[in-house]
Amino acid sequence: MKFFSLLALAATAFASPIVSSNNNIQSSTIRPNAIYQPKVFVISMFELERDPWLTSMDFPHNITVPGLSPVYPTIHCDKNFDICQVTIGEGEINAAASVTALGLNPLFDLSKTYFLIAGIAGGEPQYTTIGGVTFAKYAVQVGLEYQFAYEDYHDIHPDWLGGYVPYGTEDQDTYPGNVYGTEVFEVNENLRDRAVELALKANLSRGNDLNHQFRQLYPEAAAKAYPTVSKCDVVTSDNYFSGNVLNDYFSNLTRLMTNGTGEYCSTAQEDNASLEAFTRLDKYGLVDFDRVMVMRTISDFSRPPPTMNAIDYFFNRTDGGIQASLDNLVLAGEPIVKDIVNNWEKVYADGKKYSSKNYVGDIFGTNGGTPDFGKSSFEIA
Ligand SMILES: *[C@@H]1O[C@H](CO)[C@@H](O)[C@H](O)[C@H]1NC(C)=O
Ligand SMILES: *[C@@H]1O[C@H](CO)[C@@H](O)[C@H](O)[C@H]1NC(C)=O
Ligand SMILES: *[C@@H]1O[C@H](CO)[C@@H](O)[C@H](O)[C@H]1NC(C)=O
Ligand SMILES: *[C@@H]1O[C@H](CO)[C@@H](O)[C@H](O)[C@H]1NC(C)=O
Ligand SMILES: *[C@@H]1O[C@H](CO)[C@@H](O)[C@H](O)[C@H]1NC(C)=O
Ligand SMILES: *[C@@H]1O[C@H](CO)[C@@H](O)[C@H](O)[C@H]1NC(C)=O
Repeated sequence: MKFFSLLALAATAFASPIVSSNNNIQSSTIRPNAIYQPKVFVISMFELERDPWLTSMDFPHNITVPGLSPVYPTIHCDKNFDICQVTIGEGEINAAASVTALGLNPLFDLSKTYFLIAGIAGGEPQYTTIGGVTFAKYAVQVGLEYQFAYEDYHDIHPDWLGGYVPYGTEDQDTYPGNVYGTEVFEVNENLRDRAVELALKANLSRGNDLNHQFRQLYPEAAAKAYPTVSKCDVVTSDNYFSGNVLNDYFSNLTRLMTNGTGEYCSTAQEDNASLEAFTRLDKYGLVDFDRVMVMRTISDFSRPPPTMNAIDYFFNRTDGGIQASLDNLVLAGEPIVKDIVNNWEKVYADGKKYSSKNYVGDIFGTNGGTPDFGKSSFEIA
């Protein structure tokens, strides 16, 4: 009984709501039980992205966090709980739910933690190549659109390509008339640039001979070259798309959604979802959105070389495989992780030196500031 009454006491002491004068009850966000304050969290989406970190660093602590993916229920931390790694699961739903669960866990104070989203992605040959490393400023959710099948639209709209139409419009290339709020995110460019500066010094894996032979099938200089580090943007869609038409269309859409400043070079299935969760957590001081980085290494091209059609390329390619992209997650990501831990007191703890000069956040301006993309008003639907 004593045990129960102690628990009840604990509940009142630790979970008292904040009641404002108009009786609008708010949940408290204080964390009296938080005992871990990691300096960096590496975010992987699935096993293949997780394992290079577990192999290259020493993570003796496993902590099970309720609400994570049932496939990846535990996070991993190094000896001092300075560096931790979470695997959030693939796709937008897994990503948003897992990041939220982590952000709300009472054991952690993540208000000063830096987050490195470190995943593999499809790459645009104009900007990058197999094994290439990309750091984004924008993340655009391109799947949030109306969609028609070719058979249904081509008689009426023979000029349409790909069948996607932005919400609240009746054609393919008009800025959306209504938004859900997760369409575009912008992250801290200064911090991104610091991560790129460090990654550029890394000795990246160039992959195998087949990788390099396959690169030569593309006319673009970036595709033919050995992997390097680029600054360009990521799109998010649960639909795993491939081929020329959809890549051209989403590239156009990225430019449209970011008012001409975003350049789509990598495609994945999670980042806008994770960024939405970070945006919500930031609003209550639970994380600092200014400390989020999005890195994607390129596992394969998002479109075929000119000599192949999209279907043969996608299902039957001989491009040498994805190992270079997995190796480069750590080779390109570890320098910023170490920089943060090694220079914590001097540089990173207060977050000032690499604080953002650009707008950071979502299309609504949820965490303050005015987005440099988007329209002045939307129907919110
Ligand atoms: C921690 O998790 C990793 C990966 O899931 C696993 O390989 C390892 O055995 C676990 N360690 C302990 C001590 O349970
Ligand atoms: C996803 O977030 C990026 C910013 O990181 C943003 O540029 C992009 O528009 C978003 N995309 C979607 C479809 O939400
Ligand atoms: C870079 O890495 C390769 C192996 O991936 C190695 O052969 C080479 O010596 C390394 N170069 C430098 C400068 O460390
Ligand atoms: C992308 O935009 C260019 C230039 O406006 C246009 O020519 C092309 O048809 C567009 N592609 C798609 C698939 O929408
Ligand atoms: C796949 O590749 C093999 C050998 O490279 C070839 O024999 C086969 O016809 C290809 N299949 C398709 C669907 O292109
Ligand atoms: C972005 O472009 C849209 C039209 O595509 C325009 O309505 C909007 O005002 C622009 N936003 C900014 C911040 O320049």
